Amino acid sequence: MNKLCIKGNKNLNGNVIISGSKNAALPILFMTILTKEKIQISNVPNLTDIQIALKLLIHLGAKIKKRNNIHIDASSINIFYAPYYLINKIRASIWILGPLLSRFGRAKIYLPGGCKIGNRPIDLHLSGLTQLGAIINVKGDYISAYIKGRFQGKYIFMEKISVGATITIMSAATLAQGLTIIDNAAREPEIIDIAKFLNSIGANIVGAGKKTIYIKGVSKLTGGKHKIIPDRIETGTFLIAATISQGCIICQKTEPKHLKTVLMNLSKSGAIITTGKDWIELDMRGKRPKSLNINTAPYPGLPTDMQSQFALLNTISQGVGVITENIFENRFIYASQLIKMGAKLKIKNNTMTCYGIPKLIASNILCSDLRGSATLILASCIAIGVTIVNHTYHLFRGYDSFPDKLNKLGADIKII
Ligand code: UD1
Repeated sequence: MNKLCIKGNKNLNGNVIISGSKNAALPILFMTILTKEKIQISNVPNLTDIQIALKLLIHLGAKIKKRNNIHIDASSINIFYAPYYLINKIRASIWILGPLLSRFGRAKIYLPGGCKIGNRPIDLHLSGLTQLGAIINVKGDYISAYIKGRFQGKYIFMEKISVGATITIMSAATLAQGLTIIDNAAREPEIIDIAKFLNSIGANIVGAGKKTIYIKGVSKLTGGKHKIIPDRIETGTFLIAATISQGCIICQKTEPKHLKTVLMNLSKSGAIITTGKDWIELDMRGKRPKSLNINTAPYPGLPTDMQSQFALLNTISQGVGVITENIFENRFIYASQLIKMGAKLKIKNNTMTCYGIPKLIASNILCSDLRGSATLILASCIAIGVTIVNHTYHLFRGYDSFPDKLNKLGADIKII
């Protein structure tokens, strides 16, 4: 699935069912290492990143059955080493380090891979684990770590808000001796879902979703069941699809509360938005959107994972819009491909100024990261002519059945 052929100039309309959140499912899968009892997880999206995470767990010795739900039995884990060919494919693989150290006292992994959207250091993960008592040695591309006895609870102030490092510290603190306080923690809905899962199997975590998280260590966790929250970034991406194609899309099985900032901005661009308990309707009523000025920020700010989709919105909107990327240094890599399609963009440091034009033109384009891939596919759906989208590997890492879901909304996408 490396190339897509997309006939453009489409209005996208109809209902789409949102899958489970990738960024909640991945850490929760790795947290199952923390318990010897059986876990069942539902609403796990069908993604290559998830398949790699499951392969990684199987490599460590876990037993996994996939029916409607994923059944994980991590009691048989007996390998504490994760090889390069699995680790280098997903950034999330860093999250096996905390659970392996917590349960077995040792771990050895390669430095993780993932989207090349910036430097993506892991210093905050390692310093968090070190503060809780791990001895960590980074040599070349390897991290080896061990701990004598259990992690020891501590007050940890996060110098920078990091989703990943907050999760790593939560995984270590859950089975630690004593209380851990994470100050300046990330507040993303995925953090709340992880805490909900861990609490359901016996952890004692209070304050997830707030600036300070309190984790009282417990000596062991039980088994249980958990349903992953809906993917707010997939939802946002389909809402942008409706906005830029001047259509009307209803996202079902989603959580409107997780998208407040996204919805506020889409309303400013002229969309009529209605929400229910688990659905969002966005109706553009055939109107061209208005440009937006936006800044990405940690939750509850506008997600960096929605930055490229909003940039696409600005390329075809009325007026001039400025986007400021505050989280990652290299997150405008998709922009050169939008320029190939006729977009008028200027990039200076971490800001992008878009001068809206009425229509993009089909081209032969190349994807280079996950969210950028979805953006370029949406751009192709509204461009005049037939676009060939190359290197779509990243798309399938993070979007469940994206071409199929778009085709049901009126797109014309063929996998070649
Ligand atoms: C996660 C998400 C990603 C999202 C990002 C920000 C997953 C699998 N990925 O990535 O989709 O775009 O949150 O919402 O959930 N940083 C450091 N040192 C560290 C860790 C991070 O300096 O040890 C920096 C990063 O370079 C970045 C900022 O902190 O500038 C935020 O990164 P972080 O929140 O950790 O992102 P990820 O967990 O990698």
